[in-house]
Amino acid sequence: MDRLIVTGGGPLFGAIPIGGAKNSALKLMAASLLAPGRTVIDNVPRIVDCWTMAEVLEHLGAFVAWDEHTVTIDTGPVDSQDAPYELVSRMRASIIVLGPLLARFGRARVAMPGGCNIGSRKIDLHLRGLERMGISFRQEHGYLEARGSLHGAAVSLDFPSVGATENLVMAAVGARGTTVVDNAAREPEIVDLAAFLTAMGARISGAGTSRIVIEGVEGFQPVRHAVIPDRVEAGTFAIAAAAAGGDVVLSGARAEHLELPLSKLSDAGADVTEQGDGIRVRMQDRPGSVDFVTLPYPGFATDLQPQMMAMLASARGTGILAENVFESRFMFVQELQRMGADVMTEGHHAVIRGVERLSAAPVQALDIRAGAALVIAALTADGTTEIGDVHFIDRGYEGLEDKLSALGADVRRESARSPVVLT
Ligand code: UD1
Repeated sequence: MDRLIVTGGGPLFGAIPIGGAKNSALKLMAASLLAPGRTVIDNVPRIVDCWTMAEVLEHLGAFVAWDEHTVTIDTGPVDSQDAPYELVSRMRASIIVLGPLLARFGRARVAMPGGCNIGSRKIDLHLRGLERMGISFRQEHGYLEARGSLHGAAVSLDFPSVGATENLVMAAVGARGTTVVDNAAREPEIVDLAAFLTAMGARISGAGTSRIVIEGVEGFQPVRHAVIPDRVEAGTFAIAAAAAGGDVVLSGARAEHLELPLSKLSDAGADVTEQGDGIRVRMQDRPGSVDFVTLPYPGFATDLQPQMMAMLASARGTGILAENVFESRFMFVQELQRMGADVMTEGHHAVIRGVERLSAAPVQALDIRAGAALVIAALTADGTTEIGDVHFIDRGYEGLEDKLSALGADVRRESARSPVVLT
């Protein structure tokens, strides 16, 4: 297992490019299943999760070719509708193939995803919505067998789930009649997906609002489309700059996708401005404390909560946060505490009393964003931190250590070597 070795202390200076959004690229790749032929997607991040989605598509029979950040997917030869456990257990977002497979074939067999390090993450809303649209499910041997002829329906989600909204939209575009999804998720990635599907021939209105209306059509054409910039990657670097201090430009990042996190960084004392096609974050002093609550978009993204907590761990004063999206997203707190953080959690609340300086320690990344949070903590800490289980970080960040090194941070990767066997 690779480790990241981070020596803290220095501020960050310079400009780095922000890559394409993981959470959009994965869905666009799945949506390519709807249009038999060659779909081309640009600005796809070269991260493990996108490779896993490519494997899922290949397993279904598609051909996938990478050229830098461009992925060409030929879904013409797809002849299977099975997403196996081996792939779904590696990345639960694999279940997003359910909607497009049902729209194209009227059948899908998908492994049930288990829980993960941030919670049980149920899929009941996906299933209930699809049932309303005419699909019946049978669960056997850990697999979900879905069949039916999709028809339009009125679906009101109990919670604006991102994945459920996406699965329902991708099923509805190929259903007979009109589907209305109420209390839909409003994330920028949903808007990107709707733009992609619309270019393919779908009829969708209201993406980005709580009510999405989809008129089912027959037949989709493959298209070429560029993924939107990754707001979570941009937010991670913005928080890193505010935590470590310095002057950082995030080229290509969209401030309008990060309104709340950036305003919290301003409240903490950072000077945040839009610059050219990106965002500039300057911080001279130790950050001040802020309070925040995570909520579905446009609320504060849960995917930036751990990173923000890492910043607050050495901020001036006490910050309070409430995690409202995932029930177990505080597991990494124990790792932060190993670095001297003063954090108390109670249910879905955390109180973070900023300490003067964190101190380096060996720690483990427990999930993608918790891993990024530990890197931020390490950048501010006294001494050299060793972060294990870097494979979690690699699922969601392309070249995190290279980008941080370009900003002047002292970060390197140590690859695990096979043991030397003496004969
Ligand atoms: C997506 C993102 C993830 C982000 C999350 C919330 C991808 C690949 N992942 O995950 O990075 O943190 O949105 O912004 O895009 N829920 C149910 N029943 C369901 C579906 C969800 O109870 O059927 C609950 C979940 O357990 C969770 C909450 O709703 O507590 C939010 O989940 P959801 O919005 O669906 O997140 P994902 O799409 O899994």
